[in-house]
Parts: sequence; structure tokens; C-alpha cells
Amino acid sequence: MVFVPIRRILDGQFEDKKVAVRGWVYRKREGKQMIFLLMRDSSGVIQCPVKKESPAWGEAEKATIESSLILEGTVKKDPRAPGGYEIVSENLAIIGLAELFPITKDKSEEFLRDVRHLWLRSRRMNLVMKVRSEVLRLTHEFFKKQEFTEVTPPMFITSACEGGSTLFGLKYFDQNMYLTQSAQLYLEILIYSLEKVYCIAPSFRAEKSRTIRHLTEYWHIEAEQAFADMDDLMRLEEELLTYVCHRIAETCKPEFTELGADISKLAAVKTPFPRITYTEAIEKLKAKDMKIEWGDDMGYEEEKVLAEEYGKPFFVHDYPKQIKAFYCKTYREKPELAMSTDILVPRIGEISTGGAREDDKQKLVDRLLELGLQEKDYDWYIDLRRYGTVPHVGFGMGLERVLTWMLDLENIIDAIPFPRTTRRFYP
Ligand code: 4AD
Ligand code: MG
Repeated sequence: MVFVPIRRILDGQFEDKKVAVRGWVYRKREGKQMIFLLMRDSSGVIQCPVKKESPAWGEAEKATIESSLILEGTVKKDPRAPGGYEIVSENLAIIGLAELFPITKDKSEEFLRDVRHLWLRSRRMNLVMKVRSEVLRLTHEFFKKQEFTEVTPPMFITSACEGGSTLFGLKYFDQNMYLTQSAQLYLEILIYSLEKVYCIAPSFRAEKSRTIRHLTEYWHIEAEQAFADMDDLMRLEEELLTYVCHRIAETCKPEFTELGADISKLAAVKTPFPRITYTEAIEKLKAKDMKIEWGDDMGYEEEKVLAEEYGKPFFVHDYPKQIKAFYCKTYREKPELAMSTDILVPRIGEISTGGAREDDKQKLVDRLLELGLQEKDYDWYIDLRRYGTVPHVGFGMGLERVLTWMLDLENIIDAIPFPRTTRRFYP
């Protein structure tokens, strides 16, 4: 038996042909003379009417929601069927009879999160995961075209990248170690061999914030480039995002339509992105009566207000050095400013942070000490400045934040199959 993906039947290639499909019962409606099964597989959902006189009737009566089955029948065009086609069933074999499925129509968001392992079968999550996969594929494609080498950083680390307050500690045999917050420092090692590197890997943040944009484990798209400056960095970032947005707008139309997400914003993304300095951003916020002063870090609320004005991705750059990490390079003529830049998008705010790294050994050591960090913890990192230092830049972009923006998701937890937050880590 050759099985046909449901999507291909809905595309109209099998009208009046006999087909076999396999999948699960998505919905079931029973009448006296007819049972309507909605069958789903990874590719789509199709209506399968079973007539009383069909040999499939007996099994169709038994089949429960989420039972797995094989079904054979003839494809008919029917404008009343969702998707325009149906399979008039002639044969049906149950593979795994399902017990009473706990997810029904009226269940709350909370409940669906409790049974995530089952909710992942929903059309909605199926579609989100397909777009996620496509964003990952396109990101790899972009970096390959730009001649970046993919590298794989460690998850167990010995020294913090983004500050102690969001660091997860763990016992590594009889030593203290941490879960990585960013691959940046490791990518910096690798540029001395490969010049242009990137990775897509998990990052961990012991983040207590309960916003629509925070996870404790998320997937981080990070890149690092030798012999490059802030201008190169911002161009690389905007080209990546534009590349991915434009291609998603072409390849993921069916997913966006079914999810009811606005795809037009993706095709509308174009380079160059607007660029404003942090100082300009603070002035704009003050003009909008936000309570913020130069030197304060922008939070979710401030970023949202700022992003509303642009309605599309844009850069904020040149932040005060005191709100930035130890590795940030500063301007020679304006030492209070860090060469650091964020991309902000509407509704979510920050989706990426990047910048130039301090490449002068003494300045780096001074900054470490100023921040109360231990020089010995960063010995290998300082070595990079000891042996053939070069100007270099890099960035990190949160995959789930990008998806939350793209797909108009209400909460970042729907952008990842198995979300980890302060409260949720099951299954
Ligand atoms: O701004 P962050 O902390 O920057 C870094 O980690 C740099 N070392 C990256 C680099 O230069 N290679 O994190 C980068 C991005 C954020 O802009 C955000 O998109 C995402 O990672 N991110 C989170 N996403 C989900 N949940 C969280 N708790 C996140 N924290 C950061
Ligand atoms: Mg940041």
C-alpha cells in the first residue's frame, strides 16, 4: 500500500482516485447513516465520510478521537468539505485505539499547557513548529551563503557571559559550573581560526520575569565576525532578518493563513533598518511621558512604546557602558558609550543584542576588575587579546522572540515545543 500525505490530496492531485492515508482521528461526527471522521496527519486534515453500507463502518463506529488508523477510499471534490476534498471511505483499520482524549474544545489555556505533550498534536502547534523549522533552515542557509562556518559551543561553562543574576548554577561532579547564557565567548575563541562563525544552540537564563517574552531555556542564534565594525554588524543582522522574513513570506503562506497571522509585515521588511541612538530613544520616551532617565536600562514597557512608533524592526545603538556587559568595546572619544546595538520589533521589543567586543587586553582587564569580576575566571578570554587580537563584532538573536513577532503569538511559550519558564517545565 502506498500512503499519500493529506496535503497532496487537498492540493487536488488525486480527484476520483483511490488513496490510502494514515494518521489520527481529529474530530468525529456520528449520524445514523453516516460517520464523518476528520483525519489528520503531519501534513493536513481531511474529511472522511463513512457510509453505513461501507465495510469501514464497523471500525469507524469504534474509532475514538486520537485513535491512529489506516484508511482507504476514493477522493471526491466537495465544496462543503473543509479543504474542498474528502475521502469516501471504503476500508478502515484501527492501529491504536485511543482512550478518552482529555483535550476537548472548551479547555482553558492553562489546561492545554498542563497537557503540552498532547496539545503538541493540535493543528496550531503543528503549524507553528513548521514555521519554526523553516526559520531555522533559512538561518542556516543565510549563514552558509555569507560563508560563515557553523560551530557547536558547550552548554556546561565555567564563567558567566551575561552577568551573575541570570546564571543557572549546577554541580559538576564536585565542582560548581553553570549553564551557558550565550555562546559568545566561545564564538570569540573560534574567530581566531575561522573568522566568521555562527551557532544555533540553547541558552539558559534564571530569569524570574514573567512576561510574554521570557523563557528560562531558549534557542539562541549567534554569530561572531573578525575584522569587522559596528556598521558591518548592523548590516549583517538586518540582512539576516530580511532574508528570513522574505523567504518565510513565500514558503509559509499556508501556515500563516491557517494561523491567522499577518504575513504582510514580513514582505514589508527591508534594509536598511532605521537606526536611532540610545540617547535619541530616551528623548523620544521622555517626550511620551515615560519615566526614564539617561543611564537607565530600557525594560519591556519602554521598548514596546518605542517600537510602536516604528511598526517594523529597527536598531537602537550606542548604550551607556554601565548597563552593558564587561566585554563591550567603548568609543575612544566617548568612553561612556558602549558599541552595542539591539534590534527591536513591535509588541515584543528586543529580539537581538550585538556589538563590538573590547579587543584591547588592558582595557578588558580594567573593566573586569571594575565590575568586581575575577581575572582568573576569564584567563582564556584574555588570552585572545594576548595573541594577535583583532577588532571583532557579534550578536545573539532569540529564535522564539523572532517567532513570537512573526506569527503574532500572544506568548513566547507557543514558539517552542517544550517551554521552560519559572513555573513550567513539564514534560
Ligand atoms: O541580550 P542578550 O542577553 O545578549 C547576549 O547574550 C549576547 N552575549 C549575545 C551575543 O552578542 N552573542 O541575549 C540575546 C538575545 C536577546 O536579544 C533575546 O532575543 C534573547 O537572546 N533572549 C531571550 N529570549 C527568551 N527568553 C529569555 N529569557 C531571553 N534572554 C535573552
Ligand atoms: Mg540584550
